[in-house]
Amino acid sequence: MSKNSQHGQWSSRLAFVLAATGSAVGLGNIWKFPYITGENGGGAFVLVYLTCILAIGIPIMMAEVMLGRRGRQSPVNTMRDLAKEAGSSPLWSWLGWVGVVAGFLILSYYSVIAGWAMAYVVRVASGVFEGATADGVSNIFGQFIADPEKLLAWHSLFIIVTMLVVARGVKGLERTVKFLMPALLVILVLLVGYSMDQGAFQQGVSFLFEPDFSKIDSDGVLTAMGHAFFTLSLGMGAIMVYGAYLPSNVSIGSTVIIISIADTAVALLAGLVIFPIVFANGLEPGSGPGLIFQTLPIAFGHMAYGSLFGTLFFVLLVFAAWSSSISLIEPAVAWLVENKSMSRMRACIWAGLVTWLVGIGTVLSFNIGADIKFFDKTFFDILDYLTANIMLPLGGLCIALFAGWVMKKEVSANELSLKHAWVYAVWRLLIRFVSPIAVIIVFLNVVGLI
Ligand code: TRP
Repeated sequence: MSKNSQHGQWSSRLAFVLAATGSAVGLGNIWKFPYITGENGGGAFVLVYLTCILAIGIPIMMAEVMLGRRGRQSPVNTMRDLAKEAGSSPLWSWLGWVGVVAGFLILSYYSVIAGWAMAYVVRVASGVFEGATADGVSNIFGQFIADPEKLLAWHSLFIIVTMLVVARGVKGLERTVKFLMPALLVILVLLVGYSMDQGAFQQGVSFLFEPDFSKIDSDGVLTAMGHAFFTLSLGMGAIMVYGAYLPSNVSIGSTVIIISIADTAVALLAGLVIFPIVFANGLEPGSGPGLIFQTLPIAFGHMAYGSLFGTLFFVLLVFAAWSSSISLIEPAVAWLVENKSMSRMRACIWAGLVTWLVGIGTVLSFNIGADIKFFDKTFFDILDYLTANIMLPLGGLCIALFAGWVMKKEVSANELSLKHAWVYAVWRLLIRFVSPIAVIIVFLNVVGLI
């Protein structure tokens, strides 16, 4: 088996950490985490989410990076070769396929929301939010998403810039994220300062951290678990393909812990910014995907230099979304290059086109198609539920089973090369039993079997 990837390698451990953190930190942390927390009643949801990160997310992320580095190819080909090496069925390559499809589907709506963030760069910079009331801010958002042409234009632009970076390959990804993550962190901390000062901070903190289990149902638990996968970019091969470009001497365990801490910190900070603003302005925490677009502009409209910070914030959010979307499409692009001997450029054009087309469904689901529903869900809701709540946990379950039960113990021990034997023992316990059983219990619970 070749030990180097044909697509290149990260130049250092730091480069991998930045790229993987760039993939993990994105709209999931700043846009999705607050609104699903709001919809699911706060504290109990956050607690379940954090537990899933620890017991499921971290061990599975280690497994994904490990499989990727061992296989050194796109997830489809990696899984096929590793299954062969372990003397198991080539059908495991299906795991890679499901990942490719999940990546397309997620990117198709991710790009639409990233388009909203781009549009907000322009809006905040123009100063329309200066002195705006909560109602005014809500109206501006309502008018914006009611306009399919605008949403489509921004969605198209986002797809184009994403594909341009992907076309340049691994090195292109590296440079994009180096300054971004620290800058985003600084501005978030600044915004927490605003919320402490002007928001209902105490109320926001209680909402986030005081669990009330009567407020969360089995579907909420599934959403929390699904989000643990979504926010860490797990379950579809994104982190696997990034692992494929990881130099052999880098320690996987500590690297994964750093990435998970950074990702969780950004989500919690975003919550600490948003909920105090929600409560101080009498807004509804469960108002859905528009939550950050209906709350943050209030802060920017009232703080000193608000338009400047606001513009900067949305620029950084766009960059964060950008560095995430790259990883959503990389498994597909890597496969097209390997198996269809396409150039990266051609592969990107095809992948971008398909994603763009599917994305139109999401664009329309916020306006003229808002009433077209199956099981009370719009096109966007269905895509989100299918990918985050079903495909990613299923993919993650298979990854755990493969790494824990199919792959030979010597191989995983050697590839992970953890410093202490007990750490490996804990990981193996988690990956063989705890993570898969937890995923299965949550699934069974939702369909009402337990
Ligand atoms: N983790 C990203 C976020 O939180 C989204 C993302 C990027 C993703 N790559 C992924 C989600 C792969 C699932 C799988 O915004």
